[in-house]
Amino acid sequence: MPANKRTWAEPFKIKVVEPVNIPSPATRERAIREAGFNTFLLRSEDVYIDLLTDSGTTAMSDRQWAAMMVGDEAYAGSKSFYRLEEAVQTWYGYKYVVPAHQGRGAENLLSKTLIKPGDIVPGNMYFTTTRLHQELAGGTFVDVIIPEAHDPTSTHPFKGDVDLARVEEVIDLYGAGRIPYISIAATVNLAGGQPISLGNARAVRELAHRHGIRVILDAARVVENAYFIQKREPGFEDWSIAAIVKELCSQTDGCTMSAKKDPLVNIGGFLAVNDHAIYEDAANLAVIYEGLHTYGGMAGRDMEALATGIEESLHEDHIRARVGQVLYLGQKLIDARVPIVVPVGGHGVFLDARAFLPHVPQEQYPAQALAAALYLDSGVRSMERGIVSAGRNKETGEENKPKLELVRLTIPRRVYTQAHMDVVAESVESVFADRASIRGLRMTYEPKYLRFFQARFEPLEL
Ligand code: F0G
Repeated sequence: MPANKRTWAEPFKIKVVEPVNIPSPATRERAIREAGFNTFLLRSEDVYIDLLTDSGTTAMSDRQWAAMMVGDEAYAGSKSFYRLEEAVQTWYGYKYVVPAHQGRGAENLLSKTLIKPGDIVPGNMYFTTTRLHQELAGGTFVDVIIPEAHDPTSTHPFKGDVDLARVEEVIDLYGAGRIPYISIAATVNLAGGQPISLGNARAVRELAHRHGIRVILDAARVVENAYFIQKREPGFEDWSIAAIVKELCSQTDGCTMSAKKDPLVNIGGFLAVNDHAIYEDAANLAVIYEGLHTYGGMAGRDMEALATGIEESLHEDHIRARVGQVLYLGQKLIDARVPIVVPVGGHGVFLDARAFLPHVPQEQYPAQALAAALYLDSGVRSMERGIVSAGRNKETGEENKPKLELVRLTIPRRVYTQAHMDVVAESVESVFADRASIRGLRMTYEPKYLRFFQARFEPLEL
């Protein structure tokens, strides 16, 4: 058999294992009721395969654990900070680094530093915490992603691309002076883990800089995005992942990073920028919200693990297996004719709850109901990414009704095997076969901010 046709396996051996429970049907029934039909409120010991998120759920390597032992826990000027700073400069190419406890800490620093009340922040689809920090700083997010991103059936290879004509319109409408930066995410989480092309990122930079507007990257999944560029964008097939990542970052003036994603650690993040004045303001705010500007809420050992993780995340065999595992699960569901967002994204498979449950109207939270049904079937935990996550319009208080009503099966990095993916696919197929029995939900408790994390529901009677 030719070498490229043979089966390949994860590029690691397992050195430590963590036993998991397989909760009984009765336990699952009790647990989901106690959790108010919100998978965020389940206890992890009641979960069999945890696909809630890829955030902070990574298995670290032996090299990362070894690096933790040499963490420098000095309050100020830790050696581990300078190692992290050097890794960010080397691999992403930004000049100045402000560490933060995680991505939203960096978003807070960025938003408070750059956004004034009345400002507009265009971006390639919102992300929950990112938009909230923009709003809390007095800004308004405007979606400028291409329309294909809102269509789960469109097979556009770069559904994370920015609609450049729309950006021009937004600039004409509000004036460049009210736009502190354009925010681009790689890959776009709420569109289903869809990448932005390098060609588009270059065009965004050109357009933005022509108007004197900055571009800021949400870099949480920049390596997964680079993998799609290498595989799909003409001209990049011979580029290394590391070179593509650096090229993508170089189109932007800074980034916020949730290191809990691609950089392969369980906690941490940073803001990185090229402009010294912005760095100074953000580093000053860091001492209020995060900790000193040489640790930002991370322990020295966390910064060591992160510096090592950044470098490991760029290994070709790592990223091929990481995205490959997601594609493996996605292909199984496509073959079983389960409606999912296509093309399959970088960090998870997104079930299209509208097509899955056409009998449940969006006001009855179909994706929330589907995530609960999947848990009941097998103990697999997923997450709603639809009307509950979209929250309410900050002016009218009405529920935002996103076109995409999705359930995310998010794959942690280096944690599960192909056999776990088979179990997940079987469970989704079984729930799909029985979909007519799934009822909608009523919200019984709604918190003020980021309601999806803590809202509670109960099933509607037939
Ligand atoms: N940006 C993106 C694109 C994200 O997906 C997240 C987190 C953040 C920023 C915020 O980072 O969690 O470190 O504060 N996403 C997680 C998820 C929560 O499950 O998708 P954080």
